[in-house]
Amino acid sequence: MSKKPLILGIESSCDETAASLITENEQGIPVVLSNIISSQVDVHKEFGGVVPELAARSHMEKIDWIVQKAIDDSGRKIEEIDAVASTAGPGLIVCLSVGLSFGKAFASALNKPFIAVNHLEGHALSPKLNSKLNYPYLLLLISGGHSQFLNVQSLGKYKRLGTTIDDALGEAFDKTAKLLGIEFPGGPQIEVLAKKGDPNKYDLPKPIFNKGGCNLSFAGLKTAILRIAKNIKTEQEKFDLAASFQKTVEEILYKKTKIAFREFEKQNKPKEKIFVVAGGVAANKNIRSMLKDLCNEENYKSMFPPIELCGDNAAMIAMVGLERFKLKQFNDLDHPAKPRWPLDENAAFLKGAGVQL
Ligand SMILES: Nc1ncnc2c1ncn2[C@@H]1O[C@H](COP(=O)(O)OP(=O)(O)OP(=O)(O)O)[C@@H](O)[C@H]1O
Ligand SMILES: [Mg+2]
Repeated sequence: MSKKPLILGIESSCDETAASLITENEQGIPVVLSNIISSQVDVHKEFGGVVPELAARSHMEKIDWIVQKAIDDSGRKIEEIDAVASTAGPGLIVCLSVGLSFGKAFASALNKPFIAVNHLEGHALSPKLNSKLNYPYLLLLISGGHSQFLNVQSLGKYKRLGTTIDDALGEAFDKTAKLLGIEFPGGPQIEVLAKKGDPNKYDLPKPIFNKGGCNLSFAGLKTAILRIAKNIKTEQEKFDLAASFQKTVEEILYKKTKIAFREFEKQNKPKEKIFVVAGGVAANKNIRSMLKDLCNEENYKSMFPPIELCGDNAAMIAMVGLERFKLKQFNDLDHPAKPRWPLDENAAFLKGAGVQL
């Protein structure tokens, strides 16, 4: 039996401090041995959003014992680790620096390779943690900071097909929640409230619905919610607005995903058409089931990470580390933290006023 790689992953790009050990079985399927996540919700709650300085301080306080616990829980010894993979971007630079420096120091002390991971590539590969997934595939990445359709051609090779031109979808969920008076982080609560409301009560805008290919826009939706929320008087109206928002988002994603399917097919002639949905918003069960139905209609195979691995975690960072380790793609210890690090470096910047679609 050959020795399988044992990878330590570290994540600290925003408000989760996380560490994980993964390996793979004899069939080459990844095995998560430990996955420790410490969220900072209580630190940031009173401010209604993430405060970078407090987030960095909290990462500093916790990183040692989170990594120690990940090693202890894995049942493996520190000297068995073959490589250390840390998130190097995108994210808050003061936060990234904590996990990145810790990972570099750890790798150096063990005299093992260091791998600098793009956090978004972690999300992109997260379904590999529980299923076999071959390249190429179409990815819809819907998270707190990003909303993109990407043609994932191979490890590290991404072609962006569409992106949000303003807010990310997770951000739209969080802002809507805030306007409805739901405590930070409110995004996941919208789904819960929406179940009690009438999705047809409010007619909300769908920006760039009929133009712009599979690019997305959610800022106008938020403005409309702001206007309506001001006049809301009853709990039922709140549920109705949450339900109308959820329904509008589903309609936008349904239409734009169909367009992305055609774009993906123009660029690839895959034997099997695969659609992966990842990032925090992929935890939304209604969005999952709507996109599964669309895939059935369109003869695509749909794949999602397990719900608990949709948000930020270090297992997905270790997953990228595992693939990179097998290809011997290592990084030097002077690899910088990169607050901005798009998966497709060649894609045009499409944000702000005056964007031509
Ligand atoms: N059930 C849900 N329905 C809708 N949104 C959700 C749900 N669960 C989580 N989210 C949203 O997912 C986002 C968090 O996802 P994630 O942790 O991937 O984002 P991030 O790491 O902050 O951003 P990025 O990965 O783009 O840097 C939040 O905006 C949150 O509101
Ligand atoms: Mg994330």
